[in-house]
Amino acid sequence: TRTQVAIVGGGPAGLMLSRLLHLAGLDSVVIDNRSAGTIETTHRAGILERDSVRLLVDAGVDRVLTDGQRHEGIALRFGGVSHRIDFEALAGSACWLYPQTDVFVDLHRARTADGGDLRYGISDTEVTDVLTAPRVRYTDADGRRHEIAARLVVGADGSRSGCRALVTAATQYFREYPFAWFGVLVQAPRSAPELIYTRAARGFALVSQRTATVQRLYFQCDPAENPDDWSDDRIWAELQGRLAGQDGFRLQEGPVLERTVLPFRSFVQAPMRHGRLLLAGDAAHTVPPTGAKGLNLALADVRLLAETIEQALVRNDATALERYTARALERVWRAQHFSYWLTTMLHRADGASEFDEQRQLGELTSLVSSRAGSAYLAEGYTGWPAR
Ligand code: DHB
Repeated sequence: TRTQVAIVGGGPAGLMLSRLLHLAGLDSVVIDNRSAGTIETTHRAGILERDSVRLLVDAGVDRVLTDGQRHEGIALRFGGVSHRIDFEALAGSACWLYPQTDVFVDLHRARTADGGDLRYGISDTEVTDVLTAPRVRYTDADGRRHEIAARLVVGADGSRSGCRALVTAATQYFREYPFAWFGVLVQAPRSAPELIYTRAARGFALVSQRTATVQRLYFQCDPAENPDDWSDDRIWAELQGRLAGQDGFRLQEGPVLERTVLPFRSFVQAPMRHGRLLLAGDAAHTVPPTGAKGLNLALADVRLLAETIEQALVRNDATALERYTARALERVWRAQHFSYWLTTMLHRADGASEFDEQRQLGELTSLVSSRAGSAYLAEGYTGWPAR
């Protein structure tokens, strides 16, 4: 096969890129070693920034507007009291609660309908000749070997990216955290109309939603925690304890449908380009889940990448490829700081002194008491504008 752009990774980033390229008249081939069904049922975050929604809608993928929920704020809860951060009033903006799995389903459907070349369930991917004339080889489900010759290759192959290693002489920036998140999907009515980010003496907790009958909750845990050690009762006791406060707040309980421990780290690899290979999304950077920036960053990369590729391939502007890293990294580092900041402000650090705890409460009190501080949170959460 010959194509303009070979896209390794058929998650939301890879699919969105192939959609945007299609709309710009450029063809692509998307390959992924997972099946579409696996991606569809792997639960990820559920918050879309304002401009992520705009990008989806502009790309003709607009179910989010009917099935998603527009959220005009969040609650920050500490000392047993909730403080609302009003995105509309503070930043003239909002975000949308819409699960990443639905974003995938919508993009997959759109790309299938417009004739996209999507190849899932492949194996043994090999990318070569990225400095000259890129080739991507892989094995299909029947064991046959295939080769794609492309003008450019995009690595949108996630946090365990194989393409990443092809960027030679790259710098890797890393930060590990001594905790993880325990994530549950539960069958219960909504406990609150908006998300609640909670700092409790026992650690962080987050109340999110999915539908009228299914909710998503998280709490800070040890990275070595085994989900099977946690009965429904134990999970609910931990969550209720972290959310409890003088206002008498109680979570609506129900059966736990799914439980997982989520990894937690900050990572950036730069540059995001090597010759005719470009990286997008988790392949180049990972954020801790606090603030739900992962998918939003990947979509922002891809918006930039579609523009970059069009300049390079249609207008023959080779310098466009050279500008990609610096343009993408500006947002990446802003989001890295935002995710790190929200994380450290709300999580319990093992071995934290009494001073550290009181300082943390001081920071939260300052934030909710200051219009400027709250506006900074609102701007970062709903997303910085594209430029
Ligand atoms: C969700 C996940 C997050 O990491 C977050 O900050 C907000 C919401 C979610 O899964 O709903």
